[in-house]
Formats: sequence, C-alpha cells, structure tokens
Amino acid sequence: MSSTSAERDDLWIPEQLRENVEEILIPADRIAARLDELAAEVDRDYAGRDTDLLLVGVLRGAVFTLSDLARRLTIPSAIDFMACSSYGSSTTSSGVVRILKDLDTEIEGRDVLLVEDIVDTGLTLDYLIKNLRSRNPASVEVLSLLTKPSRREVELPVRYIGFEVPDVFVVGYGLDYAERYRGIPHIVSLKPGTGA
Ligand code: IMP
Repeated sequence: MSSTSAERDDLWIPEQLRENVEEILIPADRIAARLDELAAEVDRDYAGRDTDLLLVGVLRGAVFTLSDLARRLTIPSAIDFMACSSYGSSTTSSGVVRILKDLDTEIEGRDVLLVEDIVDTGLTLDYLIKNLRSRNPASVEVLSLLTKPSRREVELPVRYIGFEVPDVFVVGYGLDYAERYRGIPHIVSLKPGTGA
C-alpha cells in the first residue's frame, strides 16, 4: 500500500508498532512549530559570536532534534556527536554514565550547545556538562526537546526546552524502547504491557 508524503508526515506509524501506541502526546506538526521557535531563540542568542556555534547531539535519541534544529538555524553552525551509556533495554536509569563516543572537535574557546532528546533524572546531562566544561569552551548550554521535571534527581541549567511531558515512558521522533519506535514522527506513549 502506498501513501502520499502528507499522509506519512501526519499519520505514519509502522503497522507492527501502531498497536503498541497508547496515545500521540505531541504530534509532528507541534514539534516542528516548537523547533521554529527554539531555532529563532538560538539564532538571536548566538548572533555575532567569534566562532561558529557547535551543536553536539547526544546519540542516538537526539539525532532528529539536532538535524531539524540545524536546518532551521540561520547563524553558522557545526555539528558533532557524543554517545554515552544510559538505559540499554530497561527503562530505569542506572546513574552510571560512560562515554562510548567522544567528540571529534576541539571545543576550547567554542560556544557549545548540547542537544538532547529528553532530560529525565538529569544524571546523563549533569555528567556531560561537567565533562565538556573541563575542556574550557567559551560556553556550554543545553537544548532538550523534552523534559520530565517530576523525575529530576539533579538541578540542571537547561536553557532551551521543547515540551514538558508527564512521568510516562515516551518514544518516537528519535526516542526508542529497545531500539524500536525511533522513526515514528510524533512523541507517543506506549500501552502498558508493551515493554516500557
Ligand atoms: P537521564 O540521565 O535519566 O536524564 O536519562 C536521559 C536519557 O534516558 C535520555 O537521553 C534517553 O535516552 C533516556 N530516556 C529517559 N526517559 C526516556 C523516555 O521516556 N523514553 C525514551 N528514552 C528515555
């Protein structure tokens, strides 16, 4: 069965995964509109800097947010990625953070914007911010598509936030459960008993 690209953008969820979806919490068009706003804020805040803004995506969940943000910016920017251990296949944070892939870029004197999919306990970001600050960048700020404030275990300076979500496990738009659901264009919750 084929579908038009408009249908895919608005509704498309792979058939095998659709039956596990409880609710569309944030549809794709709201994500796009919020990213328009956030990109405009970033453009304004970083206008006229000496060096190009470095967007650092935290793999793998932030990939869609980073690429959609980068495409909206009108200031010059570069991109790089880090990967660290977090959830594996379970849904509770171990609190242990390990860098699996480091930056390829020297950040001394650079403005760095860490791009995350979701801040949950905050333990991952807390570690990453401290780690990046030790490299003497000009600045380190955080943009996260989602935040679950009720779960926070450490206070964090998250400068740009897309949406607050309740304390439910969410997937889609880059976020996964056991590597599934990343390609769903919306932020959705899963039915109880589907693993999360
Ligand atoms: P934190 O260290 O507890 O803040 O966890 C951050 C990471 O856990 C995120 O970057 C996600 O990879 C993952 N995570 C936390 N909550 C969710 C969720 O509801 N769905 C999918 N991944 C999540």
